[in-house]
Amino acid sequence: MNLPNEKIEEIAQANDIVDVISGYIEVKKKGKSFLSLCPFHPDKHPSLHISQQKQVYHCFSCKASGNVYTFIQNYEKITFVEAVEKLAARAGIELKKNLLRPDHANELTRLFEINKSAAKYFHKNLTDLTGSEREFVYNYLDKRKIEKQLITKFGIGYAPKNWDGLLSFFREEDIFNNDDIEKAGLIIRSDKDENKFYDRFRGRLIFPIFNESDKVVGFGARKLYEDDLGGKYINSPESKIYSKSRILYGLNFAKEKIRYYDYVILVEGYMDIVSLSKSGIENTVASSGTALTEEQVKLISRYTKNICVLFDSDLAGIKAAKRGIEIILEAGLDLNVVSLPDGEDPDSFINKNGKEEFEKYLNNKKTVIDFISELYIKEGKFETVNDKSGFIKEIIGYIGKIPDKIVRAFYIKDIARKYSLYESDMRDELEKVIKENKIKSFPKSSLILPQRKNSSKKEKGEEIYQEEMDLLELFINGNEEAIAYLENNLEIDFIKNKEVSVITEYFLDEYINHGKIELSKALNDIQSEEARVLVSKAAMNQHEVSQPENTSREMLLTGVTGKKYNLKFAKDIIKKFKLKELETQRSDMRGDPSLMNEIFEITKQINELKKS
Ligand code: CTP
Ligand code: MN
Repeated sequence: MNLPNEKIEEIAQANDIVDVISGYIEVKKKGKSFLSLCPFHPDKHPSLHISQQKQVYHCFSCKASGNVYTFIQNYEKITFVEAVEKLAARAGIELKKNLLRPDHANELTRLFEINKSAAKYFHKNLTDLTGSEREFVYNYLDKRKIEKQLITKFGIGYAPKNWDGLLSFFREEDIFNNDDIEKAGLIIRSDKDENKFYDRFRGRLIFPIFNESDKVVGFGARKLYEDDLGGKYINSPESKIYSKSRILYGLNFAKEKIRYYDYVILVEGYMDIVSLSKSGIENTVASSGTALTEEQVKLISRYTKNICVLFDSDLAGIKAAKRGIEIILEAGLDLNVVSLPDGEDPDSFINKNGKEEFEKYLNNKKTVIDFISELYIKEGKFETVNDKSGFIKEIIGYIGKIPDKIVRAFYIKDIARKYSLYESDMRDELEKVIKENKIKSFPKSSLILPQRKNSSKKEKGEEIYQEEMDLLELFINGNEEAIAYLENNLEIDFIKNKEVSVITEYFLDEYINHGKIELSKALNDIQSEEARVLVSKAAMNQHEVSQPENTSREMLLTGVTGKKYNLKFAKDIIKKFKLKELETQRSDMRGDPSLMNEIFEITKQINELKKS
């Protein structure tokens, strides 16, 4: 988008937040502030506070907050650009059309635009299909109960059987070149002639995959024809805008619902999301067949801490569920599991048995303990004393992953009671597991940084280290090379300050999704007031005029502060973070004689890092 920040600011100023919100919901004046029932969660007593002076709102209950743009974005479920258009119109401010046109000089923007065009093409193809092909495809849709309203909501499309359907569409449009379309993963270069291309998806039902901000980043394509020798699904390959491990299918449609119910249902497949949506179950996301990743769980935890895993009951499904369980527990989320009857996935189950039956299962959520014990029983491994002790150990293994001591204690109590065991024995076993985990997470000799998890993890604090401020400045002022380096090397665990960590996640998201970081947009998007203040502060630092006596030739060349926000600066910051991390770890371990070897390893790593 080419919209200048001043324009965004001008429009916001012309739309008083109290007026705007009053247009949607009832707002009451109370003293200096304005109060209202919060529309973003079930609210009985007004908990949404609106400050006319600051032009922001904040809900003291569900913590929704923001400015006039975020309010109408969230209320109307529209994009930022649409919100800008709407508020501009409301204030009678004219927007030149080209201001809202995407900036094609940017590669990432091109990739997003290509995917958007392709999604429109596939969708139109499906709705406009004729003849016997239409009959065949719609017959399939009927059989799977994919109704028209679902096709619209999920933007489902159809890729024609020929080799160059999409290719010809793009050639006719003539906006994007084949190299870019190839980078988006939509066409494949021929082996024989490197100037020739053909469509990746042919004769398939297309599910556009959206990122959190409703942009199409890739596609999943389901097989329809018997003679198609490819796999059941063919998906877009990874690209600069699509990373499987960071996407959850359906999150864009579900996020408001997830926040509203403070609870998410995790399923496996595209079709599960579509079919559940039909029954009005919309707080759902899918891992799309891959094993759940830490990044995906992190994404979820921005909306809720309560997750219900609903995986297929086949073996692959159970294996995926177990791995997923570990990751979810490690992230400190509250977890429940639902298992469906053998051979069913949510899609098949709900189509066969209906919503009510499905909800019975949902209401019958199990704890991890019960879920695993049922697996043991099902596999006939709950007979002998050894079997049972194997089970208890597996369960305690999971509990050892939970970062919160108190939550662990409750689980331990629960097991002891359930299986009539001594709680103290359970605790001993837990201590053992935690210690083993701690040791396992220290690398032997590589410079890979150990992950600090479990008990050693400290809560993110208030204090801000210099390198954290440097990091924010670099995000705001850094060149492409420097930010790309951060993207690849920064681990969110390096950051100890809560706000800095929120901002950093936002910046990384922006960089990945839009290829750049814009200050004014950040100030619009970032919800936490403290975080916004920090961003402004980091931005101001750059403009601080340095003392004349410090002015070197280099400073004159690079700007006022003498700080060069380049690759070297980025590398320095990462190095400092790593050093700090290792040093903290070492001091955490001192005093435990059994960890001598690990301490020695870490010291070696510290010395190597200092030399590098
Ligand atoms: N998947 C994939 N490639 C495959 C098989 C599966 O990418 N060859 C992913 C898809 O995201 C799919 C999910 O894994 O949605 C779950 O797989 P599966 O349960 O086999 O498919 P369903 O979603 O049940 O699809 P359908 O109901 O159409 O058979
Ligand atoms: Mn299925």
